[in-house]
Amino acid sequence: MARRRKLYEGKAKVLYEGPEPGTLIQYFKDDATAFNNQKKGIITGKGVLNNRISEFLMTRLTEIGVPTHFMRRLNMREQLVREVEIIPISLVVRNVAAGSIAKRFGIEEGTVLPRSIIEYYYKSDDLGDPMVTEEHITAFGWAGTQDLDDMVALALRINDFLIGLFLGVGLRLVDFKLEFGRLYNEHDEVQVVVADEISPDNCRLWDIRTNEKMDKDRFRRDLGGVEEAYQEVARRLGVLPEAGPMDLKGPQAMQ
Ligand code: TMP
Repeated sequence: MARRRKLYEGKAKVLYEGPEPGTLIQYFKDDATAFNNQKKGIITGKGVLNNRISEFLMTRLTEIGVPTHFMRRLNMREQLVREVEIIPISLVVRNVAAGSIAKRFGIEEGTVLPRSIIEYYYKSDDLGDPMVTEEHITAFGWAGTQDLDDMVALALRINDFLIGLFLGVGLRLVDFKLEFGRLYNEHDEVQVVVADEISPDNCRLWDIRTNEKMDKDRFRRDLGGVEEAYQEVARRLGVLPEAGPMDLKGPQAMQ
């Protein structure tokens, strides 16, 4: 069988050429990094769980009319996505102070913010993803004002929707990061769509009753119980693979 072409390998995922033009296969690894690659590790089963969690969330977003790159899940670790032109700006949406905003402004973690705050980061591993403003983004041509307007409007809708969705399963959406891409149709019209993944790798989720962290902060901060936290998020969303944790290594485990 011909080996398919690897197009890009990131810290947590690999992108392969898809079966048809305009499609890609997104493969989820168990690799975890933090602090711009300075801390490295493996979270067993993370790829399988993030594949399912992201499938679930992207599907719910599609149902409310939020455009995403997601097409369908293919297997334990892979999903078919539309090929988009990635916009090199990450958006972070924050509802509660945690992580870098708590540190930067000396706000106690857990403080509810006066309103949801959106931040922009320029995607560059070499520079450590610096925070930037709209001025930098438009002056350097990373995105146009229309792109930015679309990204912010989508981010706020996604935030409102996901706050409610997670609340329904006893989780508080503290903050999360989104990536966007441009999709061109046959008439060369452009649409900004959600890309990458939405999972405990790029969300902060706290248990509503205990405030226990149920996301990648358990890995970043060496809190232990990392695998269990990802499994619990998947279980609450109703997407834990049927065989449960036994099944999490995916095909490699079937020896
Ligand atoms: P921060 O508080 O470290 O700036 O992170 C804010 C949110 O963005 C948090 O949910 C984790 C997520 N995030 C990523 O997904 N990738 C990153 O590289 C960073 C720094 C944060």
